[in-house]
Amino acid sequence: MTNESNQDRRGFLKTSGLLTGGALLSSLPFGATAGPGYHFSVNDTIKIALIGCGGRGTGAAQQALSTKQNVKIVAMADAYRDRIDDAYKSLMERGAKAADGSPRVEVPEDHKFVGFEAYKQAIALADVVILATPPGFRPSHFEEAVRQGKHVFMEKPVATDAPGVRKVLAAAEEAKKKKLNVVVGLQRHYQPVYREMIKRIHDGALGDIVGGQVYWVSGGVWQKPRKPNQTEMDYQMRNWYYFNWLCGDHINEQHIHNIDVANWVKQGYPVSCQGTGGRQVRNGKDYGEIFDHHIVDFTYADGTTINSQCRHYEGTYSIVDEKFLGTKGKIDTFGQKSALLPYKGAPLYVHNSKADGNPYQIEHDELFDAIARGQYKFADAENGAKSTMTAIMGRMATYSGKVVKWDEALNSQIDLFPATLAWDAMPKSLPDKDGLYPIAVPGKTIAV
Ligand SMILES: NC(=O)c1ccc[n+]([C@@H]2O[C@H](COP(=O)([O-])OP(=O)(O)OC[C@H]3O[C@@H](n4cnc5c(N)ncnc54)[C@H](O)[C@@H]3O)[C@@H](O)[C@H]2O)c1
Repeated sequence: MTNESNQDRRGFLKTSGLLTGGALLSSLPFGATAGPGYHFSVNDTIKIALIGCGGRGTGAAQQALSTKQNVKIVAMADAYRDRIDDAYKSLMERGAKAADGSPRVEVPEDHKFVGFEAYKQAIALADVVILATPPGFRPSHFEEAVRQGKHVFMEKPVATDAPGVRKVLAAAEEAKKKKLNVVVGLQRHYQPVYREMIKRIHDGALGDIVGGQVYWVSGGVWQKPRKPNQTEMDYQMRNWYYFNWLCGDHINEQHIHNIDVANWVKQGYPVSCQGTGGRQVRNGKDYGEIFDHHIVDFTYADGTTINSQCRHYEGTYSIVDEKFLGTKGKIDTFGQKSALLPYKGAPLYVHNSKADGNPYQIEHDELFDAIARGQYKFADAENGAKSTMTAIMGRMATYSGKVVKWDEALNSQIDLFPATLAWDAMPKSLPDKDGLYPIAVPGKTIAV
């Protein structure tokens, strides 16, 4: 377990892949020994299992199929059969054949697995697994993939509560021992503008970073109406975004991207945070238990604070970006006009993003290239878990209204997961007679 003293820069340098923008290019042993899932000839077929066949899973599978390597989707798993069918159809339409005409999607009926336990069988058939379910399942799926010795691409966030984060951290250690490549879908680490800008910031272009703001301010996401005779478990699974055991609230599900950039720039994780939040606009019974806004101050070991803001209000100002202030200059955006600006004078560096590749593709290109060469290059899980923990700590602060410290957050025993996973089992958060779910009340709710 970590403590505050190793949240400083030195501890961070030793333990995190953030420094190199996702890839532990020099700090991990190269020349992997033969082990499960390793390929020593670029002609070998790399078998992929897709776990979680929704929008992102299908996209990630498509990106895996678009790499230069000899890859094949061989198994699919989902809680629901209809999601497998939709994803399979889409993959067959868009990526089914390699350049030489050979099939790249070969998933016979007996390799399509449905239900809560489906992931285990699909993982067993593959060399690389794509984990793209709602994040509540990620810890157990990642743990199983590592146990079975598979390379992993897993989507962010990697958990929804502290017990889940701890499980991912333990499995991340195991993955390192087994030299399994793990990429986490915090794709800014694979996006040239972030890599270039943050490398320069770390090299001192802006001096010490003394403040900043990170935002995911947008209009919100989908919602699926309750159907007659639907079990509570089925309703929550289909509407996973609005339930914390599955999603972790939007500060975790979306805003993690920007919070993770703050950690990357600061080269550490916050030692504490405090914040405010609530349900101002999106507050009916169709929206489960999550807040529609969170504003959090994250304080780092050097005493500096990064302000974070995320909200889901339709029809309002929108910004998804990060800004940082240094002692010598600032960066106002990582968007199209990204530049390192001194407080006086001409820009120190302007990034032209026009020729930059798609980070969603780059993360797969780099992962599959390493795997095909038998190289061990990626160990993103630890940072994925700690940035997930940062977002969860923010939620703990807005739900409780208290100052939350890193250690108490990481050691929290609050386990959001249902005692039993079955379609007729009950999740922990249930609606009252009017269909309304319990909502956190700052000052009263115990969230840590
Ligand atoms: N990196 C990014 O920019 C990005 C973008 C979108 C989504 N995501 C992440 O990808 C993940 C999936 O998001 P999505 O938008 O694809 O959601 P989605 O609802 O479209 O897909 C999730 C799929 O997982 C399935 N599923 C749920 N529980 C399962 C279980 N226990 N076992 C197997 N399958 C299960 C669902 O039935 C569904 O098909 C989330 O963690 C999300 O945060 C990342």
